[in-house]
Amino acid sequence: MSHDSAMPDGQASDTGSVLVVHDDQRNVRLMESILRSSGYQVLKAYNGEDALQVVENDSPDLLLLDVMMPKMSGFELCQRLKGRYQTRLLPIIMVTALNALEDKVQALEYGADDFLSKPINKVELLAKVRSVLRVKGLQDELERKKSEIEAANLELVRMQGFKESMMQMVVHDLKNPLASIMGNIQLIQMQNVEMMSPARLGELLQRTQESGRQLMRMILNILQIGKLEERKMPLRLEPVPLHKVVQENVDEMMGLSARDGILLENRVSPDLPAPRADRELVSRVVANLLNNAFKHTPSGGQVIVDAQRDGARITLTVSDTGEGIPEELQPRIFEKFVAGDSDAGRRMLFDSGLGLTFCRLAVDCHGGRIWLRSKPGEGTTVFISLLLEGPADAKPGSTSAGATAA
Ligand SMILES: Nc1ncnc2c1ncn2[C@@H]1O[C@H](COP(=O)(O)OP(=O)(O)OP(=O)(O)O)[C@@H](O)[C@H]1O
Ligand SMILES: [Mg+2]
Repeated sequence: MSHDSAMPDGQASDTGSVLVVHDDQRNVRLMESILRSSGYQVLKAYNGEDALQVVENDSPDLLLLDVMMPKMSGFELCQRLKGRYQTRLLPIIMVTALNALEDKVQALEYGADDFLSKPINKVELLAKVRSVLRVKGLQDELERKKSEIEAANLELVRMQGFKESMMQMVVHDLKNPLASIMGNIQLIQMQNVEMMSPARLGELLQRTQESGRQLMRMILNILQIGKLEERKMPLRLEPVPLHKVVQENVDEMMGLSARDGILLENRVSPDLPAPRADRELVSRVVANLLNNAFKHTPSGGQVIVDAQRDGARITLTVSDTGEGIPEELQPRIFEKFVAGDSDAGRRMLFDSGLGLTFCRLAVDCHGGRIWLRSKPGEGTTVFISLLLEGPADAKPGSTSAGATAA
């Protein structure tokens, strides 16, 4: 196609298909040859009915429409096309007799985009066709943008609904540890405490405490995930003695470890250099990982926490010999609300699918990395790598691109 006359904005102008509608063959031929020589594809119709058919079948970009035609006048055809939703934006140039002012006014009233006088002047014809097509191009662009915005809006509404239903599920999950706490208290109230064996009372209290800890862990995860996502979480950086932090968490789990017959070991060396980090956040990451390991490891299994120095980084690992994570779940495991449907919860440990999301965000804002290796039936190891010197830009909530699910 030729682009003989460059447009002011440098775009190629002479492309597109033009439907010429005229009952006079000579006029059709004349307009056809002018348009073709300029690179346009030309479609032809000799009456209104045919024109409607061509519009339907070939979707032209523009109509050159004669006013005076038998049966259906140009005005009527124009009105019909502009009145239909699908063709309302199809540009129409009406071809009127010279000095027929009334026709020109009427053409505009019927919705025509422009008009052209007979006898046809080549320069004027091409100038008007280009100008109307340029406007059509902009209009199409607008329509495209409008559809994109509508689609994005729909997606937002869908996501909002998703978020709300997920939050409802999480709130529902919070009921479980609370119900367990209330149930245990009721049991203690109903029975005569003096008659209760110390072992039984101890067990009930331990379960109650365990449920309270779960509830607190879940609530803190929910509260802090929001803050971490918005990068509004101030980090209190200090050297974090990992052996100590792990031991505090291990001590909390010891009751559970004994009850469920799971060996729990802190192998982190007390001599390991302390990475600069937010102690509270690191501790909560360890708590979440231990919680997961315990939920998914059967009696007789092992949960081991270890840490190694690797140059400027410290890598902490929490390994278990449990059921492992199904392969199809692994790529999404650090996303919000992703939880497996194992028989977790059997020991009153609860799933909301937020623990690993919290861990990822907490590690991320330290400029660290988190990933895991897991084999169904063999066990899981979660790795957390922290910079000894702390986050490079120690700004609150700074994130690293390195968080990965492996
Ligand atoms: N050590 C593990 N062994 C086996 N599966 C695990 C382990 N850790 C996590 N998972 C799987 O990953 C899912 C997501 O874990 P995540 O900690 O994010 O949520 P959750 O434990 O289900 O709920 P919560 O919000 O209470 O932590 C779990 O539901 C479980 O299916
Ligand atoms: Mg968890």
